[in-house]
Amino acid sequence: MTKLHIGLGVTGGIAAYKAIEVMRLLQKAGCEVSVAMTRHATEFVRPLTFRALTDRHVIVDDYDPANPDPIAHINFSQEIDLLLIVPATANIISKFANGIADDFLSSTYLASTAPVLIAPAMNVTMWEQAATQRNIERLRADGVRFVDPVAGELACKTVGTGKLEDVENIVSQVLNLLDAETQRRRGGRETSLRLSVSALKDDLTKEHILITVGGTREAIDPVRFISNHSSGKMGFAVAVAARERGARVTVVAASTSVEPPDGVELIRSISAQEMFDAVMEKVADATVFIGAAAVADYSPANVADAKIKKEGIDGISLELKKTPDILSEVSKRRREGQMVIGFAAETNDVIEFAKSKMAKKNLDMVIANDITAKGAGFNTDTNIATILTRQRETALGLMSKRALADKILDEIVNLRKSNPANAARSGNS
Ligand SMILES: Cc1cc2nc3c(=O)[nH]c(=O)nc-3n(C[C@H](O)[C@H](O)[C@H](O)COP(=O)(O)O)c2cc1C
Repeated sequence: MTKLHIGLGVTGGIAAYKAIEVMRLLQKAGCEVSVAMTRHATEFVRPLTFRALTDRHVIVDDYDPANPDPIAHINFSQEIDLLLIVPATANIISKFANGIADDFLSSTYLASTAPVLIAPAMNVTMWEQAATQRNIERLRADGVRFVDPVAGELACKTVGTGKLEDVENIVSQVLNLLDAETQRRRGGRETSLRLSVSALKDDLTKEHILITVGGTREAIDPVRFISNHSSGKMGFAVAVAARERGARVTVVAASTSVEPPDGVELIRSISAQEMFDAVMEKVADATVFIGAAAVADYSPANVADAKIKKEGIDGISLELKKTPDILSEVSKRRREGQMVIGFAAETNDVIEFAKSKMAKKNLDMVIANDITAKGAGFNTDTNIATILTRQRETALGLMSKRALADKILDEIVNLRKSNPANAARSGNS
C-alpha cells in the first residue's frame, strides 16, 4: 500500500508550535511528512524538533551547504502529494499569490503541481487588510484551498478572526482532500491512510460491531441461484475502519467479490435464512448492528433437489416467498443502548425511501445512496451517500468507501455523545 507524502511548510507566526501537533496527527494517519521552514519560523520552533520527529532533514535554506539535496526545492516539490502550510503568515500568502520565490518554501510552491492547502494565522487587522484578502482571493482562483482562521482571542490580546483553526479540523480537511485527490490522481489506488481524525483516537474500544456484508444467494436448484451485484466492499470497509478504531468486529458475510479483512471474526452465511440465523445468534452480544449486506427479499419457495433440466421445457415459473427481515428483527429485539443501522441502496426517491425505512424499522441511522449515480453503488471503490439519523441529515460528496466508513463511525460516536442513554456498554454485556 502506498504511503501519502505531505510537504508541511511552517512559517514565522506565533502558532508555529501547532504545526508539531498537525505533523504528529498526520503521521498517525499513515502519512509521510517532510517539513520545510521559513527562516522566521525557526525563531519560533527549532528545526531539530521536526527533524527528530520525522527522521528527515528539515529544509530552511536550500543554499545551505549542509543541505543533503542540492536542488531540494525541485525534488521536494515533486515528491509530495500535498503541500500544507501551517501556520501561514500574511507574508507567505502574499509571496505565493505574487509568484515570488525568494526562499525555499516559496520556490517549492512554484515548483510543485501537488494540491495546496493553507491554514493562515495572524492578527485580525493583518487578516482583514485589503492586501491580504486580495492575495487570498487570487490564490483561491489559482486553485489553492484554505482552512480559514477562526475568531477568538489572538496572541496579540485582541479579539477577532485570525486564530489558527483547531489542529484536528486542519488534519480532517487534509485527509478529506487527500482522499478526493487519491481517487482522482491515483485512480482509487489503495493507500494506508486512516481517513478520519477521530479514527486516530481509538474511540470505539467499547463497541462490539456486528455487520452483515455482501449479497445473499437464494438457491433455485443445486446449481443455480438468485443473487445481486453486492461486492462486500462497503461492509468490509466499515469492518476495517471499526477494527482500526479499537472496536471488536464480527462480520456475517454472504457472497463477496473481495477478500475479507484480517482481525475480525468472520462467519460465512450464503442465503438470507442462514444470515438471519447467524445474526440472531450473535446480536445479543453486539453494541451496534450494521446491516450492510444486500439481502434477497424473496427466495424460491421450493428448491429443486436435482438440477432442473431444459429438455422439453420451454419456460418455467419460479414461485418466490418472502425471506425473513433481518434488520426489522434485530430492531425488535434490541436491548438498551444497542444501535441498529441500515443501508438504503435505491434507484429513485432515495432520501424518502431511506426516511421511511428508518421510521418503519425503528433504526438509529440509515446510509442512503443512489446506486445509479456515477461513482456510487455496487462494486465500485467509491460511494456518494447521505447519512440520516433521527436528528440530522448529512449529504456527503463522492468519496472512497473507506472514507465513508469513517464518516459512519464518526456518526455512531456522535450519537453516543448526544444521547448518554446510548452509551456503549462493554461488548460482553
Ligand atoms: C512575535 C511575533 C509574532 C508574529 N506572529 C505572526 C503571525 O501570527 N502571523 C503573521 O502573519 N505574521 C506574524 N509575525 C510577523 C512575521 O513573522 C513576519 O511577517 C515575517 O516576515 C514572516 O516571515 P515568513 O513568512 O517568511 O515566515 C510575527 C512576528 C513576531 C515578531
